[in-house]
Amino acid sequence: MTNFISLADVTNIDALIQSGLESKANPFAHQSLGKNKTIGLIFFNSSLRTRLSTQKAAQNLGMNVITMNVGQDSWGLEMEEGVLMNADKAEHVREAAAVIGRYCDVIGIRAFAELQDRDKDYREQVMHQFAKYAGVPIVNLESATRHPLQSLADCITIEEAKTVKKPKVVLTWLPHFKSLPQAVANSFCEWMNVRAAAGEVEFVVTHPEGYELAPEFVGNAHVTHDQDEAFAGADFIYGKNWSSYTHYGQVLTQDPSWAVTMNDLRLTNNGRFMHCLPVRRNLKVSDEVLDSPYSLVVEQAANREWSAQAVLKEILSNI
Ligand code: CP
Repeated sequence: MTNFISLADVTNIDALIQSGLESKANPFAHQSLGKNKTIGLIFFNSSLRTRLSTQKAAQNLGMNVITMNVGQDSWGLEMEEGVLMNADKAEHVREAAAVIGRYCDVIGIRAFAELQDRDKDYREQVMHQFAKYAGVPIVNLESATRHPLQSLADCITIEEAKTVKKPKVVLTWLPHFKSLPQAVANSFCEWMNVRAAAGEVEFVVTHPEGYELAPEFVGNAHVTHDQDEAFAGADFIYGKNWSSYTHYGQVLTQDPSWAVTMNDLRLTNNGRFMHCLPVRRNLKVSDEVLDSPYSLVVEQAANREWSAQAVLKEILSNI
C-alpha cells in the first residue's frame, strides 16, 4: 500500500482487519517502525475521533505527529490550477503540499464535500491534488466521497461482534435537518459490498425515496424503501444520515419515523446498533438505543485507533 485514499488501495481486506485486531491485542509491537518518521494530519474540517485516533495510532508506531487546521492555523489553500489568485486563498496546493511533503513522511488529509457542485465533489480534487504534489503517501481522513478509515474500523467492529458466520448488515438512512455528505454511507457500501461478494455478510441498504446513493457505491446491495423489511432478522443496524445525491446536497425529508428506536431493534436478530459518530441523540436514534447493550458506537469509535494503526503500519512498511 502506498496511499490509502479508497478501498482500491487495499489488496487484502481480511489481512488489514486481522492487522487491526493484532494491533488492538498488542499496540506497541511495532514501535520501531515509525521511529524518526513524521505524519502530518491536515484538517480542512472539524474532527474528534479521526484526529485523536490517528494521532494515537501513529504514536503507538513510534511516529512524530504534526496537526494543522487549514485556514485557521495556515493560509487558505487554492486547489484550482491556472487561476488568478486575487481572492481569499493566499497559497496554492502545489507549494503547500510539496512543502508539507518535505516535513512529513506521511500526510493525512480531511476535506469534506462542499455539497454545492456534485461533479466537483466526486472528482475528489483536494485528495488528488495532495497525492499529486506532496511526493509522500496520503491517507484519507474523510474526503468528499469516502471515509475508508471509518469503514475499516466498522469491518473490525463487525468481525469482533458477530454471533453468526454471515451476519445481515443493514445501512439505514436517519433523519436530520442539516445537509450532510454521503462519504460515510458511500464508503460503508463500498466495503460491505466487497465483504458480501466474499460471502462474509449479507448487505441491505434502506432509505426514503430520493436518497439513492451513487450507483458505483450501491453496487449489488439489496435496496429497499421499507425500513421494517430491511430490519427483519438483521444482526447489525448501521445508522447514518446523508443528503440527496440526485437532488445534490438537498434535504428532501426529515421524517422522524426513520429514526432508530427500541421498537425498531425488536424486529432484528438482537441487532447491534452502529454509527460513526458524532450522533444527535433522539433526532437520529433514541437515548434508549444508545444507552442499551445493543449499542456498539463507543467500541466502534475505539476501533478507529486500530484501523488507523493497521493502515499506517502497512504504509510505513513500504516506505
Ligand atoms: N467518525 C468520525 O470520523 O468522527 P470525527 O468526525 O469526530 O473524526
